[in-house]
Amino acid sequence: MAEKKIVVVGSSNTDMTIKGGKLPAPGETVTGGLFYMGPGGKGANQAVAAKRLGADVIFICKVGSDLFGDNAIAGYKREGIDTSKILRSSKASGTALILVDAGGENCISVAPGANCDLSVEDIDSIAPVIRKADILLLQLEIPMPSVVKAARIANEAGAYVILNPAPACELPPELLKNVSLIIPNQTETALLSGVSCLDEEGLIDAVAKIRAMGVADVVVTLGSKGSMVFSGDKIDRIPAEIVQAVDTTAAGDTFCGAIAVGLSEDMSLPEAAAFATKASAITVQRIGAQNSIPYRKDLI
Ligand code: RIB
Repeated sequence: MAEKKIVVVGSSNTDMTIKGGKLPAPGETVTGGLFYMGPGGKGANQAVAAKRLGADVIFICKVGSDLFGDNAIAGYKREGIDTSKILRSSKASGTALILVDAGGENCISVAPGANCDLSVEDIDSIAPVIRKADILLLQLEIPMPSVVKAARIANEAGAYVILNPAPACELPPELLKNVSLIIPNQTETALLSGVSCLDEEGLIDAVAKIRAMGVADVVVTLGSKGSMVFSGDKIDRIPAEIVQAVDTTAAGDTFCGAIAVGLSEDMSLPEAAAFATKASAITVQRIGAQNSIPYRKDLI
């Protein structure tokens, strides 16, 4: 049987990370800690996760005509990702400044640069590639009209469309009608539904509201509490692995890439979420974004 094709449309960044003791408050300077630079961006992280975990991946993004863009493309090529549809912009490549505390929690500030230039016209120009996808994986670090367009093209062609609605923002109704599976965290679930998600009852209400907007399947990620999978009329609770987190950057991206891989291998959604939980548990125990994403052999 031919391998299923996963197409990822999204952002590519260079991450500059300081792993320190505590996150500074506004106006505060905190010294100490270690500096790392490496490849990141939610789209790129998800593409790399899907590839390392065993899928055939095409990544579509826009980078600058600069050294960071050159390095990013060279890195995706080394991973074995199809980079033939990556576009260039006259803007600088995307950059993220990331602070990580002793417990692995982070805060991130992104200068999107070239990611903002991935236009609807660009998406139109690569529509034939999107139509070939079995699974399309999307996030929200590129312009919203481009996300909507890619989702519509893929959905109309019969692909399974996965949306990770991060960074959190309100979504146009047209987007959700073209999405098969949405993977929000607790904060994003509350924002999308307008329902407070402080307890399980709230979460279940919130997911019902999101599903009423046209999305069939929902997986809510709950950090150290695992995830909840809503599919058909079933709810499955997938526990987290108990590990010592050093840096949670890209844990959600690993989870999304891994779910796509699981589904491409015909796992059920709860099985794919359990597989994704194992993968992201490895990511949180390592520093960096793409540098921390595991390979399939690491999951045995
Ligand atoms: O999800 C983590 C990613 O968010 C980082 O790699 C950073 O680039 C930001 O896009």
